Amino acid sequence: MPLTPTAGNPARGRALVADRQKGMCLLCHTAPIAEVRQQGDLAPSLAGAGARWSAAQLRARVVDNRRINPQSIMPAYFKVEGLHRVGAPWKDKTLLGAQEIEDVVAYLATLK
Ligand code: HEC
Repeated sequence: MPLTPTAGNPARGRALVADRQKGMCLLCHTAPIAEVRQQGDLAPSLAGAGARWSAAQLRARVVDNRRINPQSIMPAYFKVEGLHRVGAPWKDKTLLGAQEIEDVVAYLATLK
């Protein structure tokens, strides 16, 4: 289920994925975002993610990937409970807001 009634904005989602402070996705992943020079190699490429997964499956992975793979190193972007060793600035806050999650999912869904 979408986290908000407002449909995600793929352009904003792309900016969040590219942002090294906010999304941090490209620390681990590569994606077809040419302006980000150094991209990660710890995780599968996000290219084609929209063909591999439905919006609901993409959302589940971004919200809390450890519910799918408990060993995953990918941070839970929309979770505040059950986390360990959370730094003070992040306490009781999700890494991304609900609308930001929807924006990221909308962008990922375009990667076919
Ligand atoms: C610390 C590293 C790390 C970060 C940061 C990270 N991921 Fe991941 N992600 C992974 C790994 C590793 C996997 C592989 C699956 C697993 O571990 O369960 C993955 C899997 C995925 C998948 C499924 C890929 C596939 O097709 O199988 C998606 C989609 C995804 N991540 C999106 C994102 C997005 C969007 C962000 C940023 C908001 C992000 N990830 C940030 C490590 C990361």
